[in-house]
Amino acid sequence: MNVHITEAKRILVANDRGGYTVPTDRLYPFQWNWDSAFVAMGFALYDTDRAYRELERLIEGQWADGMIPHIVFHQPSDTYFPGPNVWRTRHTIPTSGITQPPVFAIALRKVFEAAGSGAEARTLPLYEAALKWHRWWYSARDPEGTGLVALLHPWESGSDNSPAWDIALARVPTTTDTPVVRKDTGHVNASMRPRDEDYNRFIHLVDTYAACGWDPAMQWGKAPFKVAEIQTTAILLKAGEDLEHLAREFGRTEDAAEIAAFNDLTRKAILAQWRPALSRFVSRDLISGEDVEAATQAGFIPLLSLDLEKNIADALVDEMKAWSKGLKVAFPTTKPGIAGWEPKRYWRGPAWAIINWLLIDGFKRNGHPEAAEELRRSTVAAIEAEGFAEYFDPVTGEGCGGLGFSWTAAAYMWLA
Ligand code: DGY
Repeated sequence: MNVHITEAKRILVANDRGGYTVPTDRLYPFQWNWDSAFVAMGFALYDTDRAYRELERLIEGQWADGMIPHIVFHQPSDTYFPGPNVWRTRHTIPTSGITQPPVFAIALRKVFEAAGSGAEARTLPLYEAALKWHRWWYSARDPEGTGLVALLHPWESGSDNSPAWDIALARVPTTTDTPVVRKDTGHVNASMRPRDEDYNRFIHLVDTYAACGWDPAMQWGKAPFKVAEIQTTAILLKAGEDLEHLAREFGRTEDAAEIAAFNDLTRKAILAQWRPALSRFVSRDLISGEDVEAATQAGFIPLLSLDLEKNIADALVDEMKAWSKGLKVAFPTTKPGIAGWEPKRYWRGPAWAIINWLLIDGFKRNGHPEAAEELRRSTVAAIEAEGFAEYFDPVTGEGCGGLGFSWTAAAYMWLA
């Protein structure tokens, strides 16, 4: 067997904390929402029981209103900030108070299909949890029914310090009630992480929403950061397609009709965010009412969930080729060379295996198998050269951030 697959599996064993997988030791010592969804897809390739377990442990943290939090604090750890005492969410199992990209139903369909007949009983409670979460997205994060869902915190995007937030986040004060005691820079070089100023703003937002008692309507009214976000919405649509598929599989025709209506609304809303002059889709800043024009990977993620007209798909692929020119590893999360491009700093330039995985699926869906193959090869080569790093410097290829990273291991298993 490919030695790297063996190593990927070893990483998932090493990061197991009892039926759930931490993203990496110490830097992220709890269960993270979208990390676990990617990891479950990795397990689906060789251990469906463990794949189900990953998803089951995640929904132990689901709130009564349907939200699945971005972190579930199953057991204490002092290597991470902000911990449960900062979030003050009062859920039975401590959790954070915000969410993360809804990859869950995409994973659930893959796990169910891998498990085969007989897996329906185990799948149903997870399906119900996913449906509740999708309803939450549309009620709590799109109360006006636009079809685009909004993020109230950059951490909800998973792309924490992306240049996409620079304008919207600059409005958020740097003052905090909670003292900011960073732990991340004790594990990883500070030059690869968000800046202190970003952290102050991240925690200002947590303080603001904790003061709302985490009530979604109150948060919506008070939020100093509110972005209808294209990457998250595109992931929600793909997950919505997979959820609709499962609903039909399980004979849930009413659910299927409800989900199909969500999907139709969102499909149209995403298409309305296409900007031919930029050759990208854009998010909308709901506080200023303006497009978010920052050149980041998010604008290409709709490839994953829409069957685009050929001229749009071709324009996206051409633009991506232009960004990738001369790089050792594609795809950069920020357009090389623009102000704000930092090839080693987290989401301000580096290439991430899980983003590539989404883009590869998007290329295949939209009639660009050769672009898919090129990106697949580039991702696999980067991991084989540098190991299962959190992400990669696209210029030098260097593995950066946390090492022995679970979702990089899962991505490798799918892409190798
Ligand atoms: C972190 O702490 O860096 C996480 O990305 C927040 O979820």
